[in-house]
Amino acid sequence: MTDLPTSARVPDDIARAVMLPGPYADEEHITYPALAWLRRNQPFGLAEIEGFDRTWLATKHADILEIEKTPQVFSSALADPFLLDKAGREYMRTTNDGRRTQDTLAYMDAPEHTKIKNVTTAWFMPANVRKREEAIRQLAKDAVDRLITGEPTVDIVKDFALYYPLRVIMSLFGVPPEDEPRMLHLTQSLFGTTDEDTKRDDVEGGEGASARAWKATLQDFFDYFNVLSADRRQSPTDDLASIIANAKVDGEYLPESFVNGYYVAIATAGHDTTSSTISGAIEQFCRNPEQLDAVRADPGLVPGVVEEALRWVSPVKHFLRVVKEDTEFRGQTLLEGDGVMLLYPSADRDEEVFENPDTFDITRKPNKHIAFGYGPHQCIGQHVARLEMRILLEELIPRLAKVELTGEPQYVAANFLSGPKTLPVRITPA
Ligand code: HEM
Repeated sequence: MTDLPTSARVPDDIARAVMLPGPYADEEHITYPALAWLRRNQPFGLAEIEGFDRTWLATKHADILEIEKTPQVFSSALADPFLLDKAGREYMRTTNDGRRTQDTLAYMDAPEHTKIKNVTTAWFMPANVRKREEAIRQLAKDAVDRLITGEPTVDIVKDFALYYPLRVIMSLFGVPPEDEPRMLHLTQSLFGTTDEDTKRDDVEGGEGASARAWKATLQDFFDYFNVLSADRRQSPTDDLASIIANAKVDGEYLPESFVNGYYVAIATAGHDTTSSTISGAIEQFCRNPEQLDAVRADPGLVPGVVEEALRWVSPVKHFLRVVKEDTEFRGQTLLEGDGVMLLYPSADRDEEVFENPDTFDITRKPNKHIAFGYGPHQCIGQHVARLEMRILLEELIPRLAKVELTGEPQYVAANFLSGPKTLPVRITPA
């Protein structure tokens, strides 16, 4: 880590490669080299690109940990927790009469955050999540069966990886399978608002378009979940929707906007992230066939595949914090209201933490990636994500002799949540 303050301002081309959505469609060639440059030259620098507020770029593993465990200075509650351009921020502010966009965890600081997170903390603990193992394994078997017995050439993303995590999340909620396609579409348009293939076609382009599309999709979510919630208050079960709909904080049911906020966060955070990681693992099996052979020979390596795929893909590209009061950090003066982008993919390739960080290695030990974040906001669904990925790989790997690319994969052009968009492959069953 550098101790010396460097000249704070990040060159605009580097800042754009990291902050704008477009470059993430070619992150190996644009974003990752820019992140490596920043780690070497300006590990904590200030970006001031046109159309955006002042934003600090946190690229080092240690710095991100430090920021995440100092929420009293680096707040999650002062703005949307992901980067928006000025027009987008203004749109969010005015359409919500100055209130936050969503009443959900990622928008909260303690003590509110602690109370609301506690509603589901126990439900998401490994011991409780493991009770779902058999049900999840059945979904994994179905997905693998369809893949292995279907056409040998497929798009892993669309034909395999997208659907399974969605079904897992929906099964945890207790949503009927017939509603799954609608939820898949809504989630993709929520996080692919800037990508041509997934963005809404009923929202006009131009300034702030991404924020407007996001808001419209959010409303669609709320319409769906209001119905689910009413049903679970009337007839509770042990599913996640019942826990949330019937939760009481300070003796009262959660307000409707908080209940909806919970559903949306879990539904959206819970499946695109996982599907990107699964696709990323399979892409790496194509590029490093010896690693597929190794895990076929030793199934004990499956958890290593999961962790390395998480590090490699880091599907959450950033979260944003906002500086609460003027402060010093790494020799720089941060002003109240400055944004701080926590760049997880950069932390997960930090040369000071990972040997040969640009090598995909399923035997990597230790693997201290922070793809799930850190501190009070650390991912609530990490045990679900790890479990469902492990189970899927346990079902897939014994049945997969070989997987080869039949074309170049494409990646989602989004700076918050991204990963493979298409992954054309040929499957050779075992
Ligand atoms: C590969 C899969 C996943 C990855 C990489 C991932 C990553 C993340 C990251 C980086 C954060 C922010 C952490 C921070 O600010 O320090 C987060 C938060 C969150 N994730 Fe995940 N996630 C994944 C899967 C899931 C799943 C399966 C669920 C739900 C079942 C979920 C629900 C949430 C929620 C509700 C939050 C907000 C937590 C808070 O603000 O306190 N995620 N996730």
